[in-house]
Amino acid sequence: MKPARVADRTAPWWQSAVLYQVYPRSFQDTDGDGIGDLPGLMRRLPHLVELGVDALWLSPIYPSPMADFGYDISDYTDIDPVFGTLADFDALLDAAHRHGIKVLLDLVPNHTSDRHPWFEESRASRNNPKRDWYIWRDPAPDGGPPNNWLSEFGGSAWAFDPATGQYYYHAFLDAQPDLNWRNPEVRAAIYDVMRFWLRRGVDGFRVDVIWHLIKDDQFRDNPSNPDWRPGRPPNESLVPIYTADRPEVHEVIAEMRRVVEEFEERVLIGEIYLPIERLVTYYGADLSGAHLPFNFALLNAPWHARRIAQLVDEYEAALPPGGWPNWVLGNHDRPRVASRVGRDQLRVAAMLLLTLRGTPTIYYGEEIGMADVAIPPDRVRDPFEKNVPGIGVGRDGCRTPMQWDGGAAAGFSAAEPWLPPGPDSGRENVTNQRGDPGSLLNLYRRLIAARRRHSALTRGSYEPMAASGDLLVYVRRHGRERVLVALNLGPEPVTVSLRGDAAEGRVLVSSLGDRDGEAVTGELYLRSHEGAVVGLDPAETHGEA
Ligand code: NOJ
Ligand code: MG
Repeated sequence: MKPARVADRTAPWWQSAVLYQVYPRSFQDTDGDGIGDLPGLMRRLPHLVELGVDALWLSPIYPSPMADFGYDISDYTDIDPVFGTLADFDALLDAAHRHGIKVLLDLVPNHTSDRHPWFEESRASRNNPKRDWYIWRDPAPDGGPPNNWLSEFGGSAWAFDPATGQYYYHAFLDAQPDLNWRNPEVRAAIYDVMRFWLRRGVDGFRVDVIWHLIKDDQFRDNPSNPDWRPGRPPNESLVPIYTADRPEVHEVIAEMRRVVEEFEERVLIGEIYLPIERLVTYYGADLSGAHLPFNFALLNAPWHARRIAQLVDEYEAALPPGGWPNWVLGNHDRPRVASRVGRDQLRVAAMLLLTLRGTPTIYYGEEIGMADVAIPPDRVRDPFEKNVPGIGVGRDGCRTPMQWDGGAAAGFSAAEPWLPPGPDSGRENVTNQRGDPGSLLNLYRRLIAARRRHSALTRGSYEPMAASGDLLVYVRRHGRERVLVALNLGPEPVTVSLRGDAAEGRVLVSSLGDRDGEAVTGELYLRSHEGAVVGLDPAETHGEA
């Protein structure tokens, strides 16, 4: 069992939680098809329990033709046979709950698969009752697409349907037609899907591309982007002002929020890639929107202490009153942190993620430092890479099998995995790192455990401290408890001078695992790429070892 939480018991669970994203295809295969499944996830639950995470978010597990690996859903209320059955899901949910782990599903309301019965009906004829469930438009006078809107995955966002003589809109693949969220029947249908899973006991949703749900009702052309250069994804050549982040989307999200609130203690998380000042509008008027609009600021941030300090300040300052922050370091769409910031900085990155103010999300494999895997051309699976090859948009590299041990297929499968396991899996794997007290895996565990013990880390304020060069320093404070975090983002050793009432304490967690419990007085010496979490309140540090 987990140690009791020190956090404020009146606050919602997801504020003090650590979230963990699993890409189910790549976590654990049990039936020998080379693809991860729910029984596999069930078998690996002990890993999550040991890590100490509070909630699990599963990328889509619904029936799907898998054109976009589950983000193209053909049935919202079942499980794809490749992953298992509804009974497997119920068993997993039950087992997770028994371990005190919540389960969040990925809700993909923006689009369905083109094989979803709703779309099959919609395309059957112009006067089908479901015609208006999707976005159909007449051709332009020259017979071409109705306007210049581009697909995120390359090419026009409009696909022509010869049988009915109209185009349908797809923000992603043409096999992923967008639902028409201006249609109340569509809204009601998806809200019923949400209730189906909430009634089953699911603890909430991560909502796919929530900022895309509403498009311009006048179908105006998007303006061109003067900053676009060849080599960047083609859709970025336009500024998507008419296809995403439309004002009316907030009304829809508030409705979704009300559905979630028909049930107790559920959470609504939104996937949103927008600049901070736009992102924070997704908390909604009077916090009627997403509980957590995912904050991806660290995914693109140059890994420099000053830049990160600045973006944390910007984010903290932009949050609406009562809006709870969150931080993400990796996901199934972006290069892994090891490949972005380098291995040397993995511990510092972990410490940052788990000590900033707000709910952190860990992407599977980050706890052992998995890096992006180079995918040979004949093994590319990602449709984005297939459509827009060679410019580095491929997402297979960050979706490779979880590295459990040094065996064949990294302990992931008895068969050839759907994507190749990392070449470093013989060394960087869960089994090896469990046995090494100084490993990254054990650092994640120690950090998560420290969060659980110290309300300053979960509930506390964020107070940046003046620092220069590669040093990032801040204090988290809750009541009398104060925790100082000092991170060296560079290769040169550095001494942090601590003054006044922040001068003395004890190391709670050191990034290399060899200084926990060390007394700190007046200054803190940090080695190359080292970080430390220091308990400043002596009364709170007793009995930490
Ligand atoms: C965002 C998801 O994270 C990504 O994997 C997917 O391809 C698109 N949405 C389309 O659903
Ligand atoms: Mg399988």
